[in-house]
Amino acid sequence: MIFQSFYANSFYLFGILAQTNCKMNTNRPRRNRKSAAIRDMVAETALTVNDLIYPLFITEKENEQTAIPSLPNICRLGKNDLLREVETALQLGIHTFVLFPAVEESKKDRFATYSYASDNFYLNYARSLKEAFPQIVLMSDVAMDPYSSDGHDGLVENGEILNDQTLPILAKMSLAQAQAGYDILGPSDMMDGRVGYIRQALDKEGYTDVSIMSYTAKYASAFYGPFRDALESAPKSGDKKTYQMNPANKRDALIEAELDAAEGADFLMVKPALAYLDIIHLLKEKTNLPITAYNVSGEYAMIHAAAQKGWLDYDSVMMETLLSIKRAGADAILTYFAKDCAAILK
Ligand code: PBG
Repeated sequence: MIFQSFYANSFYLFGILAQTNCKMNTNRPRRNRKSAAIRDMVAETALTVNDLIYPLFITEKENEQTAIPSLPNICRLGKNDLLREVETALQLGIHTFVLFPAVEESKKDRFATYSYASDNFYLNYARSLKEAFPQIVLMSDVAMDPYSSDGHDGLVENGEILNDQTLPILAKMSLAQAQAGYDILGPSDMMDGRVGYIRQALDKEGYTDVSIMSYTAKYASAFYGPFRDALESAPKSGDKKTYQMNPANKRDALIEAELDAAEGADFLMVKPALAYLDIIHLLKEKTNLPITAYNVSGEYAMIHAAAQKGWLDYDSVMMETLLSIKRAGADAILTYFAKDCAAILK
């Protein structure tokens, strides 16, 4: 009885194998990979220089390129170096830039008042850049942290980050940036209702053409470490978990996306990118605004560190990383790799 069923089973198995064999002979996916030309022809995703947004750190100190140890090849740039860097990037075909200010500790206060001061270098540099290169797209960062003595994105009181009291400060900062010539404002603070609040403030003053790229799904991530080194902007106490999103959550991203779209955002951003490819994909599928991804400082630092050790090939891993972010659904990518990537694409 047992013997019989053994035979019966093995005949059955053989039948299946024979069938799959036969199928394997007609369907050979490898045919579409047999040459570079065919692989390119059937490629579903292509990275182009138009996808790239180049983040730049700026400092008030003129003619002093300050290196950032945890961000290899990235420097804090004074005005002249910034102008030169943008010119170099333009020659590589990059035309969109986002600026982040490294502000002296003495200029920081609880209310981030320097963020909208008329002599603020963040605003002056933008004016100079737009004057020198009117064709560029210039994006800002809207959040209190680079200007805040507490190092938080919102106003701190008794250890709490106040939401509604932060909004007018963000609106003042946004208006100052719009006046200075920034084309796209990037609220990265994660306060509730800030996109709508900023949109209304802009429209009231006639800045209806200034865009908002909202940091929609910004996670409370450890991958921002090198960025905080660059700006010396780490929180003086506590962490950002009461406003930035919990890495465990996906549906939260949909709630944020719905709100941002309703409040008037022009682009939705997911940040970080690599550990959150599923979120990029989700927003691309479920929403209709362009999706940008922020390939953050820690993601950049990791690849550099491994490449320095000779453990990974820098160019290949960088290109594969950026392509995967695009494949997940990003329409544009903010990345410290922008120049290196553009050079390879060229
Ligand atoms: C701050 C801001 C951060 C980044 C962009 N804007 C850091 C933070 O939230 O602490 C991180 C970008 C990066 O890591 O490259 N509003």
